[in-house]
Amino acid sequence: MSKVTIMDHPLIQHKIGIMRVKTTSTKEFRDLVSEVAMLICYEATRELPLADIEIETPLMKTTVKEIAGKKLCIVPILRAGLHMADGILNLIPNAKVGHVGLYRNEETLEPVEYFCKLPADSGDREIFVVDPMLATGGSAIAAINLLKKRGISKIHFLCLIAAPEGVKKFTEAHPDVDIFIGALDERLNDKGYILPGLGDAGDRIYGTK
Ligand code: PRP
Ligand code: URA
Repeated sequence: MSKVTIMDHPLIQHKIGIMRVKTTSTKEFRDLVSEVAMLICYEATRELPLADIEIETPLMKTTVKEIAGKKLCIVPILRAGLHMADGILNLIPNAKVGHVGLYRNEETLEPVEYFCKLPADSGDREIFVVDPMLATGGSAIAAINLLKKRGISKIHFLCLIAAPEGVKKFTEAHPDVDIFIGALDERLNDKGYILPGLGDAGDRIYGTK
């Protein structure tokens, strides 16, 4: 079963609180998406494997740790995931980046795929799929289906806000994928929006609508 981690760090809770306020400006909202993504990523990378390497300090030879293997790949779900990826790249500047384009059909709430471009060696990397919102779960499930179809298996999913309905559907669909959630909200409304939520993440990041 997926490991579900809900963040309890005061900085994350404080920043998500500001994001929920409807008068928070586009610029501040965008900055907060990056900052909170960075903080969640700090927790999500806690168990990455390390390897010993020999180095020389100015004084002597010694052994230090480095992240083992082929390192990481961040996969934002377009559009809103892009700003989470930017934040995470501040922390892990050498990560590769893949993109999955999906939008929710507003009537059926089903995800519609329009783009998928991944680094050629993604199958060897630890993959962090990022999207601010896990609402019905349809978009995140579809994005991870796309990755798995391409032979990718080491996948983690990071979001800022999730609805219980989406978490349930996601963990049933992808029990092998761990989830890191900034805040777990109450429920979905009849239009598939998270309550209390923060509204439409893409519109708030880009100032559309
Ligand atoms: C939002 C959000 C997720 C999706 C979540 O994207 O960023 O991708 O909805 O909803 P779900 O869990 O019910 O699938 P949206 O479809 O609005 O596209 P956008 O990022 O292009 O605005
Ligand atoms: N997508 C969003 O951007 N917000 C929601 O509350 C649900 C889906």
